[in-house]
Amino acid sequence: MLAYEIVRKKLDGEANSEGEIRALVDGFVRGEIAPEQMAAWLAAVYVRGLSDEETWWLTKAMAESGRMLDLSAIDGIKVDKHSTGGVGDKVSIVAVPLVAAGGVPVAKLTGRALGHTGGTADKLESIPGMRLDLSEAEFIGQVQRIGCAIAVATEDIAPADKKIYALRDKTATIASIPLIVSSILSKKLAGGADAFVFDVKFGDGAFMRQLEEAKALAEGLVRTAKLAGKRAVAVLSSMEQPLGHAVGNAVEVAEAIAVLRGEGPTDVREVCLTVAAHMLWLGGVVSDPQEGRRKAEELLGSGAALEKFRQLVAAQGGDASIVDDPKRLPQPNHRAEVRAEREGVVTQIATRRLGLLAARLGAGRLGARAWTQRRGFGCTKKSAILFRRARCWRRCKVPAPLRRSWWRKGRRVLGLGRKRLPCRWWRG
Ligand code: URA
Repeated sequence: MLAYEIVRKKLDGEANSEGEIRALVDGFVRGEIAPEQMAAWLAAVYVRGLSDEETWWLTKAMAESGRMLDLSAIDGIKVDKHSTGGVGDKVSIVAVPLVAAGGVPVAKLTGRALGHTGGTADKLESIPGMRLDLSEAEFIGQVQRIGCAIAVATEDIAPADKKIYALRDKTATIASIPLIVSSILSKKLAGGADAFVFDVKFGDGAFMRQLEEAKALAEGLVRTAKLAGKRAVAVLSSMEQPLGHAVGNAVEVAEAIAVLRGEGPTDVREVCLTVAAHMLWLGGVVSDPQEGRRKAEELLGSGAALEKFRQLVAAQGGDASIVDDPKRLPQPNHRAEVRAEREGVVTQIATRRLGLLAARLGAGRLGARAWTQRRGFGCTKKSAILFRRARCWRRCKVPAPLRRSWWRKGRRVLGLGRKRLPCRWWRG
């Protein structure tokens, strides 16, 4: 089948067959289909959309373009989670050991920072000695032994997604729901789990700014996962402000440890409990998500989740003493405070800009800038909180000398008003 004809059909609003989509994806990965033809097809999909079946065929072709992990040697229902990405999102660091402590095996492949959003792999690597580059045998063996493992997804997991994503990024076709669904789900399917919980973020710091778009993405992910024969649930959570107080790498691990101790910010704890409750339910150890929530609360309260995290860190070569003494995590050389210029109520936080600021400061992987585990923010004030002039809003862990422009940028992300607005940080 000529690529020309496949593209023409989609441009004219016709459906593509499974064979056509497979030929397009395989041909593009092998370099036999020109990037301009693939770009034209992606643009046609952006405008015309894909049916559920076409989305599933695309997902399958992308997943099967590389290595597919076989987790059948691990007993039980393997449940994975995926976040669509956000600022201060440390949910995986809590949810993985929490769910494993409840008896559900979790073999989690994870990613690095992308744009304004952080990456679980970068965060965990701030633990001295912690290895995320596990071989397949190490990964599976560890889940068999202790019930969980977190490894960075290697280049051969869904290579078609990497190539197609790079082209989408250049051709302004990222924001297409079927393309996002196939991108996310192809990597998850290649990871080999039996069931998935998708934490779909909405708001300024999310890929999907509008709640309606996030709902459409959530529904698309669940419908396509079902076509793949997997059980799946999606929860929606807000990125209208950072999750928790910490934004960075080591600072986020410290906050995740606080949640595992039964402490930590309420918003992080709530999202972690909700995600974990659904994972426990999909894993078959509780009869419904409500019971899952009660079990997850018990596992946090009893210290079982924290103990599982200690085992996870030690199994992957990390210094497990950070669990009892998070001050042993990399500490900043310099600290600075950004103060509000006037009294008011926090009415909005430009979360995306805050994420970019953290990345530019060195906590992310933007461009050629140095990446460091030491840098990050603590947002000490969140939406709807009243605070007085000159009260510290953010504590930045920054390199010295801190340029004045950082203060200006820091203040610009904060909206101050007179009226106390409702705090919209969670939608279940
Ligand atoms: N995250 C992904 O993995 N893929 C997308 O297309 C968007 C967000």
